Amino acid sequence: MNEGAWDELKQAARLARSHAYAPYSGFTVGAAVRTKSGAVFTGCNVENASYGATICAERAALAAAVAAGERELAALVIASGARRPTPPCGICRQCLSELAPSLPIRSYTGDAHAEYDLASLLPHAFSRDQLD
Ligand code: THU
Repeated sequence: MNEGAWDELKQAARLARSHAYAPYSGFTVGAAVRTKSGAVFTGCNVENASYGATICAERAALAAAVAAGERELAALVIASGARRPTPPCGICRQCLSELAPSLPIRSYTGDAHAEYDLASLLPHAFSRDQLD
């Protein structure tokens, strides 16, 4: 993906972050996923008084894409305000892996970013193959 396309995802993730509902942790996160059709879907973290019911930004973006009928994920951007760029949590790794086991990911905080690919973040993922 070219830099312009990454930049568009970064802006979308930042906008989504501005809508995060994180009254408990104060840690706001936005995510934007591009599908192979070129469409962009976003999510933010949505916390809950029952802490474990919290939804992460990455899974919210994934759900938005699927709800729009888009399952072929091409790239994901995460935007946070952490001191260093943050990788997706383990639950989100597993969820993303269902549809895009080697998804390219960038995580931004301010002007800094880190790059990951999902296959490296989640080696030996549990997948539908194991259900046979
Ligand atoms: N969070 C995300 O949205 N994405 C991540 O990759 C890590 C954590 C959220 C969950 C919770 O609302 C807050 O950040 C602190 O963990």
